[in-house]
Amino acid sequence: MAIRMGIIGFGYMGKWHLNNAPKVENVSVVAAYDIVPERVQAAEEAGLKGFYNLDEFLKEDINLVLVATPNDVHCELACAAMKAGKNVICEKPVAMSLTEVDRMIATAKENNVLFTVHQNRRWDKDFRIVKEIIETRELGNVYAIHSRLHGTRGAMFGWRAEPEHGGGMIYDWGVHFVDQLMWMLGFDAIKSVFCKTVKVKTPEVEDYFFLLLDLKSGAHIQMEVGTWVLNQLPRWMILGDEGTAYVNDFTRNGGIIKVDETVEPEEIVVMTTSGPTRTFAPRGKKEIINKELPDSPADLTEYYANLRDAIDGKCELIVKPEQVRAVFTVLEAAFESAKTGRQIEL
Ligand SMILES: NC(=O)c1ccc[n+]([C@@H]2O[C@H](COP(=O)([O-])OP(=O)(O)OC[C@H]3O[C@@H](n4cnc5c(N)ncnc54)[C@H](O)[C@@H]3O)[C@@H](O)[C@H]2O)c1
Repeated sequence: MAIRMGIIGFGYMGKWHLNNAPKVENVSVVAAYDIVPERVQAAEEAGLKGFYNLDEFLKEDINLVLVATPNDVHCELACAAMKAGKNVICEKPVAMSLTEVDRMIATAKENNVLFTVHQNRRWDKDFRIVKEIIETRELGNVYAIHSRLHGTRGAMFGWRAEPEHGGGMIYDWGVHFVDQLMWMLGFDAIKSVFCKTVKVKTPEVEDYFFLLLDLKSGAHIQMEVGTWVLNQLPRWMILGDEGTAYVNDFTRNGGIIKVDETVEPEEIVVMTTSGPTRTFAPRGKKEIINKELPDSPADLTEYYANLRDAIDGKCELIVKPEQVRAVFTVLEAAFESAKTGRQIEL
């Protein structure tokens, strides 16, 4: 079936989807609705049919609606579209509470339409590399994963600084990173959640968070997102009992480090200002094996192609509503932990 997409909210991401969704065969973007007249005009200039009224927009000949507004209105707009019989992609974070998420999932079922969320960071190159390293057991047993993003600008753009619109870094990036890890490790892999949040440069929402996720396997995840960290650490560190991998940024920049157990360890002692350490001395050069990261392919157009084919009943959605719900459960636990100072068992 040809997909005729309509966009609600023709801002930054609305335009982004206009530029990307049609890269897939049989997917076109035909209309847009926004509450800001200049945005509707921008949509018309981009060749779309512009709408100032939601009901009129939903009467248009479209079979997929993309909701790309600030987060506080995702639920009401997605539900209105589903009640009008449209399949829906909602931007992340799906909503502002688990109650809203449940309402959206129920509305999709009641109206027999597909509902999914744009968890596009499942297609990030760096993440696919980490996924391959873990799935191939390149590092043996993985006991810790560090998923981290450090920025230097101390900026939360526009409504992202406002709690009433669903601002804050947990909703903005935490949702992506929790989704990546749960998709990779299993949507029931997490046992407990501990979270610290800080408002470093933004008065009303967290622009820094640290998340400790204990896994049922015994391993754990450290997640840290900070917008004001001027000396940056790698995007990923994967610690296994047979090696360590690091990915520095969103690309294939990084490596895998292993030890050649056949080489006799060199005796090295590091003298600190107050004493010696052998435990934290570096390895001798001959003991170390440096490997390249795998070149895991990642193509985001798969997201739209999957949705098109799922609407046709040819396959299952990659981003499933129940997965989105499981991720949101972790986010809610993170907020509760940050508020109470307690570790939250799931
Ligand atoms: N998946 C990603 O990689 C990614 C990246 C950036 C943003 N996002 C998400 O996309 C969504 C939009 O973010 P953005 O950066 O495009 O924001 P934006 O502010 O650039 O655009 C939002 C648009 O929604 C319109 N709008 C606001 N309220 C509306 C309403 N009630 N009805 C119709 N239109 C309305 C605004 O006028 C604006 O044009 C957010 O949920 C955000 O979290 C996702």
